[in-house]
Amino acid sequence: MAIFAANFKCNLTRAQTKTYLAELDAYLGYLEQDSNKHQDSHKHTEVFVFPNQAALLENTYKFVRVGAQNAHCVENGGFTGEIGAEQLREFGIDSILIGHSERRTIFGESQDYIAQKFAYFAKAGFRIIYCIGEDLSVRQSGDVEAFLRAEFEGISRDYKNLIVAYEPIWAIGTGVSANVEDIERTHAFLRSFLNVPLLYGGSVNETNAQEIVRVANVDGVLVGSASLDCARFCKIIESRC
Ligand code: PGA
Repeated sequence: MAIFAANFKCNLTRAQTKTYLAELDAYLGYLEQDSNKHQDSHKHTEVFVFPNQAALLENTYKFVRVGAQNAHCVENGGFTGEIGAEQLREFGIDSILIGHSERRTIFGESQDYIAQKFAYFAKAGFRIIYCIGEDLSVRQSGDVEAFLRAEFEGISRDYKNLIVAYEPIWAIGTGVSANVEDIERTHAFLRSFLNVPLLYGGSVNETNAQEIVRVANVDGVLVGSASLDCARFCKIIESRC
């Protein structure tokens, strides 16, 4: 069982997302049939797509879950530029990314605010992909573990619908993923206090996905750039063990 999640960020239009999702769902249907035929139940996968907010689509696909990249921790109200739980519910959305490094660094989301969001969407029963990851200066200073632990302040680590994505900031969108040894070491550390699925993210593509998915304590991947093309994302999914 592996988890594959596509984060489109601020890319693709609604029309493009619609075509993409139809194509992906059909492909996953074919994969499902194939693994049933060969009784490869271990190859079962869970696939999420997080489209741009303006391209949210009803969550009616058979094999892919559509989720939200972001939302404010409210039902609705006077929060210009935000979407709340009411808007997500209209689309049947029940999964969300929280704590992505682009939200933390570009939009200044504090650990406090992130913890509030987490508590709100956990109470609403959402699948939460909670993102953590250090920048290059932390990696070079050798304080990675303390840094990652601090990103769990205020976060309920035993929330039943939690998935954690480790995404080193220096590997996001750079085309250079962390190496297998670094991923293995960091995931072993995370596993020492987390009993939930652990994803790796940061320049995952169709070439490196297979070796990453095989690393101990890696239960799947969160993919940005390489997920924008449906055929590439399908190849990544084929790397399931
Ligand atoms: P990337 O992005 O695959 O383009 O590095 C990953 C992410 O930010 O989730």
